[in-house]
Amino acid sequence: MTSTTSPTPNHQTISPAIFYWGTPVVLITTENPDQTFNIAPMSSAWWLGNRCMLGLGAISHTTINLLRTKQCVLNLASDSMAGSVNALARTTGSAEILTAQPDEGYKYFKRMNGYEYVHDKFGHANLTPLASELVRPARIMECPAQMEAELVGVYEMMRDADTKGFIALEVKVLRTHVHEDIRMVGAGNRVDPDKWRPLIMSFQELYGLKGKVGSSKLAGIGEEEYRGFSNGVEIEGGK
Ligand SMILES: Cc1cc2nc3c(=O)[nH]c(=O)nc-3n(C[C@H](O)[C@H](O)[C@H](O)COP(=O)(O)O)c2cc1C
Repeated sequence: MTSTTSPTPNHQTISPAIFYWGTPVVLITTENPDQTFNIAPMSSAWWLGNRCMLGLGAISHTTINLLRTKQCVLNLASDSMAGSVNALARTTGSAEILTAQPDEGYKYFKRMNGYEYVHDKFGHANLTPLASELVRPARIMECPAQMEAELVGVYEMMRDADTKGFIALEVKVLRTHVHEDIRMVGAGNRVDPDKWRPLIMSFQELYGLKGKVGSSKLAGIGEEEYRGFSNGVEIEGGK
């Protein structure tokens, strides 16, 4: 049996309204019905193998586009892109926001919290669309990392609760593009963590990284050892 110590006076019990402890900001691009592109900032994303799980509002414009087209690009914002993320914050590509009624959940929340309907998100945030290679949605040129991806799974969240409204979308990364500034010298398929500076959202505020805090035992495993799990195809020397 593990022995425990008594509660310390330094920890108090609280009940946070949100649990956003700090995750990178992803700008998801999807295709609208009129073949223009939408952008949504989000940060409830986690990665395993060559898959990413996206936690999104079930009726956000991005979710509806993604369910219909099965395609997106996951563009990662760097810590110099807070201005672009703020320009996209509290906007939606869904015109229905303008007339949302109290019984319309997240849509009404957005209307009441000053969200604005913006059709041209690229123009609004002064970002540049870049053609993708395998999917229709454009990449965002200013983002140092861009992953073309396809939808492979949809999971309803909060099945145990009365309030629904969030879903988890599993996407498979099909192709990855990175800016040369963040590549590891001499290692074709690797990103250099000393060079990559993600923008982190923590409790709705935006941060960068503060530098390394020590050596990582996990990093003693070669990155290529993981490729078998992820089904990732190795590009000889990177492209
Ligand atoms: C930094 C940041 C992180 C966000 N993270 C999420 C998230 O993880 N999931 C989500 O559903 N919405 C998140 N949002 C809110 C969405 O951006 C918002 O729902 C937006 O209206 C979606 O755009 P769309 O309706 O055009 O798809 C985040 C917003 C910001 C600014």
